[in-house]
Amino acid sequence: MKDIFQPFVKLLTLMVGLLLSITLLTALLIGIVIVVFSGGSLPGVDQSASSVPAVSTVVAEVYRGVVPKEGMWVAPAWNTVDQEPNAEDIKYGRELIANTSEYLGPNGKVKKISNGMNCQNCHLNAGTAPLGNNYGAVASTYPKVRARSGQSEDIPKRINDCFERSLNGQALANNSKEMIAMVAYMEWLGKDVPKGETPKGAGIYEVPFLDRAADPIKGKTVYAQQCQSCHMEDGQGMKKQDNTGYIYPPLWGDHSYNDGAGLFRMSRFAGYVKTNMPLGATFERPLLSDEEAWDVAAYINSIPRPKKDITKDWPDISKKPIDHPFGPFSDEFTEEQHKFGPFKPIREARNNTTK
Ligand code: HEC
Ligand code: HEC
Repeated sequence: MKDIFQPFVKLLTLMVGLLLSITLLTALLIGIVIVVFSGGSLPGVDQSASSVPAVSTVVAEVYRGVVPKEGMWVAPAWNTVDQEPNAEDIKYGRELIANTSEYLGPNGKVKKISNGMNCQNCHLNAGTAPLGNNYGAVASTYPKVRARSGQSEDIPKRINDCFERSLNGQALANNSKEMIAMVAYMEWLGKDVPKGETPKGAGIYEVPFLDRAADPIKGKTVYAQQCQSCHMEDGQGMKKQDNTGYIYPPLWGDHSYNDGAGLFRMSRFAGYVKTNMPLGATFERPLLSDEEAWDVAAYINSIPRPKKDITKDWPDISKKPIDHPFGPFSDEFTEEQHKFGPFKPIREARNNTTK
């Protein structure tokens, strides 16, 4: 009897053994997959983008695959725009922000008042991208007194600031169809933001100050490795074939923003670039270190660009931002340090005088 069953017992043991090893192997594989996918998440970059892991459940406008985190500002859904009585203005406003040059650039079909750049080059995705210099806080915070002009500014005045500085051009009349449209678009974007509030994720990311001055020489290396492929070695970018604007906008020289523009301040430039450049970077997945962002800002903002008469700016010099690079200042620091840093000593000195 024993001899007859022995082969079966052996076969059975073998089969059970095989089954066990397959199960174990599968469990191991599943384990690996879980670890890889959950551990692969990137560290958060800032205070304003909270580390809450939950992704917003709102159907957000997704820009380059980024869904704004819980609590971050999200533009109203574009497909609801037709419910508005001024839908046509809002749509034209968005079109002007996205394709400014086609309408208002050097060969603009409406007017020729700006340098060929689009508002969208700096206000990404028509001013809706999280930490892409978006317009989330415009409707809720204007009009407001701005220290640069020392006056109360409404939305048209602020838009014209960017025309005269960032687009190195001329102002639009407040009653023009174009101005009315852009204001309508911005007011619609911010319609759900309570008055006076600046929502999370609005505007530009604040890169922490370095302990040293930003270094244009190091920045030149960053530029060559990370920026030049699109913005070109001469910084002039690449024009569209039909000459209506740029595929890659210029970063310095005659066709770029002037020295009175926001991006000429190092903190604005570093912050914009940290969460948006090289193209494809986002606040969740930045591609530059903080040092690289400051250094490349120092390099680009050291190369000549158009000048603006800004003698009337900052009537109260004690209100100049720490990184405004033109004196006179209310402190003892040089223009050089106000341009490149280190900024921490300036901030400390300011904190002490305001105590
Ligand atoms: C070269 C880059 C650049 C271009 C092009 C540009 N802007 Fe700006 N814009 C900025 C920067 C930088 C700021 C300041 C952001 C900050 O300090 O947080 C700004 C701020 C603004 C603000 C105020 C936002 C706020 O929350 O206070 C408005 C409105 C605005 N821009 C409209 C426009 C319009 C309209 C155009 C096109 C006509 C335009 N911008 C083109 C760089 C640019
Ligand atoms: C893959 C191409 C690409 C690379 C690489 C790239 N950019 Fe850009 N950059 C763009 C495009 C495209 C825009 C305009 C975005 C839009 O209109 O939606 C832009 C816009 C900008 C702007 C605002 C507009 C202007 O011209 O002033 C700045 C500043 C900028 N880039 C800096 C940089 C820096 C610094 C680097 C390197 C760290 C870099 N970019 C790398 C494609 C690129």
